Amino acid sequence: MALSCAGNILKDNMMRCVPIASRASSWWSGVEMGPPDAILGVTEAFKKDSNPQKMNLGVGAYRSDEGKPFVLPSVRKAEEIMMAANHDKEYLPITGLADFTKAAAALAFGENSEAISNKLNITSQAISGTGALRVGANFLQRYFPDNKQVFLPTPSWGNHTPIFTHAGLQLGAYRYYDKNTCGFDKAGCLEDISKIPEGSVILLHACAHNPTGVDPKPEDWKELSQLVKSKKLFPFFDMAYQGFASGDIDRDAQAVRQFLKDGHQIMLAQSFSKNMGLYGERAGAFTIVCESEEEMKRVESQVKITIRPLYSNPPIHGARIAATILNTPDLRTQWLGDVKFMADRIINMRKMLADNLKKEGSTHDWSHVTDQIGMFCFTGLTPEQVERITKEFSVYLTKDGRISVAGISSANNSYLAHAIHQVTK
Ligand SMILES: Cc1ncc(COP(=O)(O)O)c(C=O)c1O
Repeated sequence: MALSCAGNILKDNMMRCVPIASRASSWWSGVEMGPPDAILGVTEAFKKDSNPQKMNLGVGAYRSDEGKPFVLPSVRKAEEIMMAANHDKEYLPITGLADFTKAAAALAFGENSEAISNKLNITSQAISGTGALRVGANFLQRYFPDNKQVFLPTPSWGNHTPIFTHAGLQLGAYRYYDKNTCGFDKAGCLEDISKIPEGSVILLHACAHNPTGVDPKPEDWKELSQLVKSKKLFPFFDMAYQGFASGDIDRDAQAVRQFLKDGHQIMLAQSFSKNMGLYGERAGAFTIVCESEEEMKRVESQVKITIRPLYSNPPIHGARIAATILNTPDLRTQWLGDVKFMADRIINMRKMLADNLKKEGSTHDWSHVTDQIGMFCFTGLTPEQVERITKEFSVYLTKDGRISVAGISSANNSYLAHAIHQVTK
């Protein structure tokens, strides 16, 4: 039935006349409220708490023993050198600062890397580790020849899932963490990987696994490398913590170097957020190792085509800081000391926490606190215990029981041990 509406009136989709005012007034009225970010939500709640003893163990950023953000002395020195050099602020090429990308690849692969000397790697600057993962995900979505399924460890860093799914890839999972031992579930991991369909991508945390703090041992990596090879899987390494795990950048790169030695063509996402404390500078690198220099050139051209419509070219300041440090011998030595200093403080906080728990009289086995490595510790606290420790002691952490050890200081270590003991006894 033809129906015309008068004046300020229009037809809705049921052909009824309704005033214009009742129609959605914005293009975005249908957008639903999303859930808050799990980690940033913890910080929000922490900020509102007036307890002077409150602790924020949710955030993954290093803190000094006074609980303050820490700028590395080597970074300050690099910035002084850069100021004196009076650099311009021109655009970088699409793949970034060559002095930085060359040094980043050498840091990951080692100074004597055959992949580098044979010009097999295309290494592009990226918007830190997250950006490197996303460029990798977009590249896989367009060019990966097989089933485009990416297998993540359970659990994995929370952002891995949206990074890969937003790029249009399918996800799968493999066992990694053993809740009973708070350690590596080697048997489960090997069993699950052996069932992954051939031609899939497997994401591996190179060191200081986030969120568990659990890393395979060097012998385990050898086995994993053989299995990944025999199953014809493509390894994508996420290395966000080189140096942060053990305090030794070479030791922490062992997994990546083992896979290269075993002849894998790998992808690598590198971050300088943690090991140089450059969180807000967004300094990172993305690498693909190819079969030949000729293939690398073709792949490089498509990496550029992937990046150009995403952000055109990367930011310059953080990459310059990292390049200045890595390419100035004295400064590099100083930086290696800074990394070790941070890693050692974290290792000390772990020891102190385990000792303090014992002093509190806890009879639980807390050996995982010192066995785990890197910034995070998966305490084994249940969601109910997390709720209690937050409510009763103002200790803030994510529901999965993960604490950032970098957020503990000598001054509040015993308070934390007391709080943990009270909710776990
Ligand atoms: C496992 C892992 N990958 C990547 C990143 C990326 O960090 P960014 O983008 O700051 O380099 C993080 C940061 O927390 C991480 O834990």
